[in-house]
Amino acid sequence: MAKKYNIAVIPGDGIGPEITKAAIDVLEAAASRKDIEIFTKELTAGGAAIDRYGIPLPQETIYSAQDSDAVLLGAVGGPKWDNVDPELRPEKALLGLRFGLGLYANIRPVTIYDELKDASPLKNTGNIDFVIVRELTGGIYFGKTGSYQSGDRLPDGTVKGKIAYDTESYSEGEINRILKIAFELAMKRKKKLTLVDKANVLLTSRMWRRLTSQMRFDYPEVEVEFLYIDNAAMQLISRPYSFDVIVTSNLFGDILSDEAGQIAGSIGMLPSASLGAAGTPGLYEPIHGSAPDLAGQDKANPLGCILSAAMMMRMAFGEEDVATDIEKAVKKTLEQGLRTSDITFVGEGITTKLVGTKEMTEAVIANL
Ligand code: IPM
Ligand code: MG
Repeated sequence: MAKKYNIAVIPGDGIGPEITKAAIDVLEAAASRKDIEIFTKELTAGGAAIDRYGIPLPQETIYSAQDSDAVLLGAVGGPKWDNVDPELRPEKALLGLRFGLGLYANIRPVTIYDELKDASPLKNTGNIDFVIVRELTGGIYFGKTGSYQSGDRLPDGTVKGKIAYDTESYSEGEINRILKIAFELAMKRKKKLTLVDKANVLLTSRMWRRLTSQMRFDYPEVEVEFLYIDNAAMQLISRPYSFDVIVTSNLFGDILSDEAGQIAGSIGMLPSASLGAAGTPGLYEPIHGSAPDLAGQDKANPLGCILSAAMMMRMAFGEEDVATDIEKAVKKTLEQGLRTSDITFVGEGITTKLVGTKEMTEAVIANL
């Protein structure tokens, strides 16, 4: 009997609908070859939900996502909703989903395809193959926030005016559970773990360091390195090949993963998985945003979303074969020289063909 998986698809905004459609088309084609049936239901979130219901994340979307085997998300946000109440911004949908589903572990693998080495701004990328493990439901993204009026003056006499604050706070429990994920992952990989923090300034970071130093006794084989975020941003450029697992807080992980995307040739290539407690559906999404300037023009790179669907097959369902089939088809498509505009490159000995979202997707399916 065919295996069946129920996938909640949240297309979202901008290029989201185009790339999720691409990923589902590839997924269905790859799964059917292995006698697996994929059932999808479309859910509304982000700007699309604001337009339809006046709020970015309807309860129904959370319930329905909870009731699926896994969630595939495109992207949310765009200039159209720049002026809505901050509490109703499209991004709140993504944060609400992560929090609502308890998806505290964000896994962002960064690899570079040989074919895309020229698209990287780095001269010597070496063999880039690391994973960013980003804490996803804590830190400054979810800390105490607010603003108030201050009548005080600064030392130079300037009236202070309104004061806004966002706070970074972490509990030991929150840090330990993400560290455990990172150490376990390192054990399955090259056994190297880098904690990125700002322990020279922040108290929360010093807690991350202390807990990492404690947990490393449970994983004596793992080599542990500590880097301050500013230095890490630099090291990622000077020695990207030397990293294995990078574990860090929500905000630092957000920043470093965009940098990693550029190093790997294009942020449009990178997939991610957001995972919670056992039994909760994980959320799979490309790390790039909604790219409103490309939306609806058949220009978006669908590969980050397609590779996210592959990650889903592997991590949510243990369907290693389907995952590798998709990944191999992506590689073959790049070998054939097909490139969306974010990864086009003209160089010696390389003949590439500029294609749109649809043509790229059809080629991946043909290469399965
Ligand atoms: C990401 C995005 C989100 C984040 C935004 C859209 C809220 O940048 O997934 O990296 O900051 O987490
Ligand atoms: Mg980001």
